[in-house]
Amino acid sequence: MIINRRVQTLDEFTIQQLRDFPKATGELSSLLRDIGLAAKRVNVEVNKAGLVDILGDAGSMNVQGEEVKKLDIFANNQFVGVLRHGISCAGIGSEELDDVVIFDDEVSNASKYVCLFDPLDGSSNIDVNVSIGTIFSVYRRVSELGKPATEADFLQPGVKQVAAGYIIYGSSTMMVYATRRGVNGFTLDQSIGEFTLSHPDIKCPDSGKFYSVNHGNFFQYEENVRKYINECQKKTKENGGPYTQRYIGSMVADIHRNLIKGGIFMYPAVLDKPKGKLRVMYECNPCAFIIEVAGGIATNGKQRMLEVQPTGLHQRTPFFAGSKLMMEELESFLKGTE
Ligand code: AHG
Ligand code: MN
Ligand code: MN
Repeated sequence: MIINRRVQTLDEFTIQQLRDFPKATGELSSLLRDIGLAAKRVNVEVNKAGLVDILGDAGSMNVQGEEVKKLDIFANNQFVGVLRHGISCAGIGSEELDDVVIFDDEVSNASKYVCLFDPLDGSSNIDVNVSIGTIFSVYRRVSELGKPATEADFLQPGVKQVAAGYIIYGSSTMMVYATRRGVNGFTLDQSIGEFTLSHPDIKCPDSGKFYSVNHGNFFQYEENVRKYINECQKKTKENGGPYTQRYIGSMVADIHRNLIKGGIFMYPAVLDKPKGKLRVMYECNPCAFIIEVAGGIATNGKQRMLEVQPTGLHQRTPFFAGSKLMMEELESFLKGTE
């Protein structure tokens, strides 16, 4: 049997990172391992989605008035449960829950991190076997250690993230996470049930061919956005094109493709959602952090996404993210200086 010694599991990788930082306590590594464990459990259910009676609506609405599918709830419960029983998280916020959950026990109160989740992103794609995902972000608490976490620990601007990542349940299952030191991708080796380092040190290409936007909303976008989309369609070989439009409707999958291949993702404001559809805390900030660490740019159309001071847990925003040069061109259109 040939053993590929270059293969590193998620656990080995996070432990290796610890070795480079002798002062680190290992809390973040343990948190990432917990997230990996919850993700594996969700992965098992996602894979069974076509088989078992877990499909369909759970018959309730989430706190934002959207229909909740059963797998959303399952995923939410897995992440909350694993982190509650872990030793590295003082509380969580979730797209599926009205309020933050503060774990408030001796061990959790001593933990220095809190986590935010979109437990299942792209849930309208579940019943049609299209990639879906989980998005997470980790903040260092601002409240006093030893006491229960507070809402202020969660309502921090994205620039304060310590780590952020996503799991994509796709043709293979991957976990991609970023710390300030870099972005790394791990593919789930189903035969041993371990996330294995497959995409070390991911960099987002400075330019790409993909633009991802919901064209069905075209006439609802503001004029400068429409002009930029028109420009994407006009690109030729001479000026970096032609571009290809790709829009999965699972943000995780769209961001993942553009992160690896180069591209731009846009969810602008629309008439009936003037503040945008995507959530600052659960979707945009973590994706913005990953894209930026990988060398790309992310904005709300007016300012750097990560510098937006959140005022509410479930706040929404327009969102634009991707390859540096493509984002710079978009920004010139948004400012009207193109
Ligand atoms: P969620 O399933 O968590 O509610 O998120 C769905 C989001 C996002 O993943 C995707 O990019 C976007 O909604 C798609 O929205 P449209 O169908 O309006 O384009
Ligand atoms: Mn989502
Ligand atoms: Mn969701």
